[in-house]
Amino acid sequence: MALTVQIDQPGGPEVMKLVDLPVGEPGPGQVRIRHEAIGLNFIDVYQRTGLYTLPMPLTLGMEGAGVIEAVGEGVTHLKVGDRAAYASNPPGSYSQARVLPALAVCRLPESIGFDTGAAMMLKGLTAQYLLRRTLPVGGLQPGDQILWHAAAGGVGLIACQWAKALGYELIATAGSDEKCQLALANGAAHAINYRTEDFAARVREITGGQGVKVVYDSVGKDTWDKSLECLRPFGLMASFGNASGPVPPISPAVLAPKSLYLTRATLFTHIATRENCQAMADDLFDVVGSGKVKIHIEQRFPLADVQGAHRLLEARKTTGSTILLP
Ligand SMILES: NC(=O)c1ccc[n+]([C@@H]2O[C@H](COP(=O)([O-])OP(=O)(O)OC[C@H]3O[C@@H](n4cnc5c(N)ncnc54)[C@H](OP(=O)(O)O)[C@@H]3O)[C@@H](O)[C@H]2O)c1
Repeated sequence: MALTVQIDQPGGPEVMKLVDLPVGEPGPGQVRIRHEAIGLNFIDVYQRTGLYTLPMPLTLGMEGAGVIEAVGEGVTHLKVGDRAAYASNPPGSYSQARVLPALAVCRLPESIGFDTGAAMMLKGLTAQYLLRRTLPVGGLQPGDQILWHAAAGGVGLIACQWAKALGYELIATAGSDEKCQLALANGAAHAINYRTEDFAARVREITGGQGVKVVYDSVGKDTWDKSLECLRPFGLMASFGNASGPVPPISPAVLAPKSLYLTRATLFTHIATRENCQAMADDLFDVVGSGKVKIHIEQRFPLADVQGAHRLLEARKTTGSTILLP
């Protein structure tokens, strides 16, 4: 049995209830993990509210770290007792223990603790595939300018540091002056408070009227139009989230004046094979192990107070990563 957060229908934070559920044995290709720490992500909010529709009842959570307790048939990269961490479908990490596909579960290097493991897998692998694999035609070179929205958040603070390590000039946006300072302290070259300033005008100014090569946009509805304005000809609009609400349907013609490229990317297509997932995780473990990227765990909640954690995240009151402790 394991204490588990379950929802029976979509709704506000109050629909999340702590229940005791059987965990079961792993089937072929699966493992059972006992969580030491669980990662909180904005996707959990989309799934809780019903913006992303999933079968009910549902246990939320797509990121965690802990110890492997049982290994199903055919799993060769993990054994009982291994320290491990993951970002994985289907949801279910808001629990003391769970069974899940082994494919995206990676052994955690000794130098990385469980809390950090739970705070960095989904967010860090996302920064990895965006900065390393979601690139404009011709790629990105040191000195290139990119725009990153919500840069003081979980994915954002990792991206600021990683972009700096790669030599890119990252222009950050964030929702308060304090958050802007945090992005700058973590490697952003410029920071714009997009609640008080016109970020497209500031980007024009910073780039001498040229625009940026890529906009990494997870805010969605509120930033979409101005994000397109920020791009230079042949630039890439990398849309990867909708924290302010989904982007309304668009016509491809909006891309025409600057021959722009558009992608709507998700981590789960990138980590769909064991090989890709492990290669991306190794890259992440290297950059964290080298100290070039530090994982900032700014909020910790007991699993039993998951409602409080969701309220803070939705109110834009968190910075960096948040973990839940089972
Ligand atoms: N597609 C993928 O593969 C993928 C994977 C991971 C994450 N994501 C997306 O990346 C984003 C960041 O994820 P995260 O877990 O690290 O969350 P987060 O950035 O820590 O939190 C979301 C942030 O979005 C900003 N925001 C802007 N408008 C908002 C609004 N109306 N309501 C709430 N927040 C708003 C807030 O920062 P400010 O106050 O600074 O504006 C808030 O702190 C999310 O949109 C998430 O869905 C996508």
